Amino acid sequence: MTRVFSGVKPTGHLTLGNYLGAMRQWAGVDQHRADALFCIVDLHALTVAHDPARVRRLSRQSASLLLAAGLDPELCTVFVQSHVDEHARLSYLLECVATDGEMRRMIQYKEKAVRERERGGSVRLSLLTYPVLMAADILAYGTEEVPVGDDQAQHVELARDLAVRFNQRYGHTFVVPRATLPTVAARVMNLQEPTSKMGKSDDTGPGIVYLLDEPEVVRKKVMRAVTDSGRDVVYDRQERPGLANLLEILAACTGGNPAALSGVYESYGSLKKDTAEAVVEVLRPLQKKHKELCADPGYVEGVLREGAERAREMARPTVDAAYRAIGLLPPVPETVVSAVR
Ligand code: TRP
Repeated sequence: MTRVFSGVKPTGHLTLGNYLGAMRQWAGVDQHRADALFCIVDLHALTVAHDPARVRRLSRQSASLLLAAGLDPELCTVFVQSHVDEHARLSYLLECVATDGEMRRMIQYKEKAVRERERGGSVRLSLLTYPVLMAADILAYGTEEVPVGDDQAQHVELARDLAVRFNQRYGHTFVVPRATLPTVAARVMNLQEPTSKMGKSDDTGPGIVYLLDEPEVVRKKVMRAVTDSGRDVVYDRQERPGLANLLEILAACTGGNPAALSGVYESYGSLKKDTAEAVVEVLRPLQKKHKELCADPGYVEGVLREGAERAREMARPTVDAAYRAIGLLPPVPETVVSAVR
């Protein structure tokens, strides 16, 4: 079976963008067709200024939201990155394969570093090396496919380069992964700023629908979405991004087609109203399940414990092989030492 790996970073509350753009595909398609791992990548949350209690809270919440969205621990492996030492172990080896120039060319690093400096903060070294840790996440599991948004394509490309380079230098060790763009997913944009993605890290409320927003809040946010000048409802991503975003969200929630839906509506108002209701209906079962999971924290903890165990078993042989291949002396097992004595 195809090995699939993807990750969610607990730096913000998960959004409708995360759900329609990724999580729904993981639950509906990937976990059924592949041997899939879904990881709450908490080490990555430490690459920018962070509040320890918040990272802890968001990690727990991300786990229960992944399960609420339909990830089934019988079918896939859900776990927390820091529970499996292999990620950090492998990351160091890959730092010895990656170059400084390669890191500094990463678009996301350049953008984030500028933003951090503008805020008057300093840039953590881990922000620069982040893509190497991400490569370790992927390569430790012999991953073949990495379902991610196009903003992560460059990072997956780096993971490929590092795998190929390591294999050439030290002998075949890693499977060379590739990014897969989700097939049934929508690219949801910020409702107030329809040319930028509905991300979770830029925690500014009104344009972002969070998975745990109450129905009233969802309605308000959708009704206040920025639309374009003009009155007719047409689907045009370039010229009418606000409208296109609403049509895409509606289509994603109802299984329709944005261009076809544009013919159905005469006014922005009725489109917004239907979109709001469609989003509320998509979120309803997820929120209900989440509430049940919150009432049973022992269950979620159990899932994460078992997930980490399974993940460790999968990653250890590959990471150990990388340690040997790169020239590190294998530790001598206890039994051998006592035999010598
Ligand atoms: N960098 C990804 C993001 O910001 C999260 C991530 C970390 C990831 N490690 C990964 C995604 C490995 C896929 C595979 O969204």
